[in-house]
Amino acid sequence: MTPEQIKLVQDSFKKVAPIAPQAADIFYARLFEIAPDVRPLFPDDMSGQKGKLMGMLGTAVTNLHQVETIIPTVQELGRKHVGYGVKDQHYKPVGEALVYTLEQGLGDDFTPEVKEAWIETYMTLQGVMTAAAAEASPPVEKKGLLARMFG
Ligand code: HEM
Repeated sequence: MTPEQIKLVQDSFKKVAPIAPQAADIFYARLFEIAPDVRPLFPDDMSGQKGKLMGMLGTAVTNLHQVETIIPTVQELGRKHVGYGVKDQHYKPVGEALVYTLEQGLGDDFTPEVKEAWIETYMTLQGVMTAAAAEASPPVEKKGLLARMFG
């Protein structure tokens, strides 16, 4: 990511931060509309969940210029997501719901450049999370026989 892209993401996030609860509502409504199969992964009562994604995004966005400081946290988050039942293919609809939410929240400020910069941000987080997840649970076929039997 370029320094310009980082600034675009940070500045635009500041505009959605004050409407974080509404943004979370838009995000989950959209996510469950486009990917109903992920609904069972989340608790029935979503009220506790709402601050989490926006909170983590806030941390990530604030630290994009020193991304190495958040890598261990993001890796840990990726590993935790395996435990939540999250699969690699779920990252796509989540990214789409995020872009949709930003579009709704930012209106005309969601320019093509801002959109591109957010996609880069999400891809970065997704890349770190899924790589850590893959290391945490290698696919069965890649394990040796003994590891499959006893691992
Ligand atoms: C950049 C991508 C993502 C970020 C930043 C993110 C962030 C978070 C955070 C901060 C939490 C709370 C973690 C905790 O307290 O342990 C969480 C929980 C969770 N996330 Fe994500 N997440 C991302 C992608 C995804 C994806 C792709 C899915 C798939 C649907 C997903 C589903 C969940 C679920 C099911 C929980 C646990 C809900 C619960 O039981 O309370 N997340 N996520």
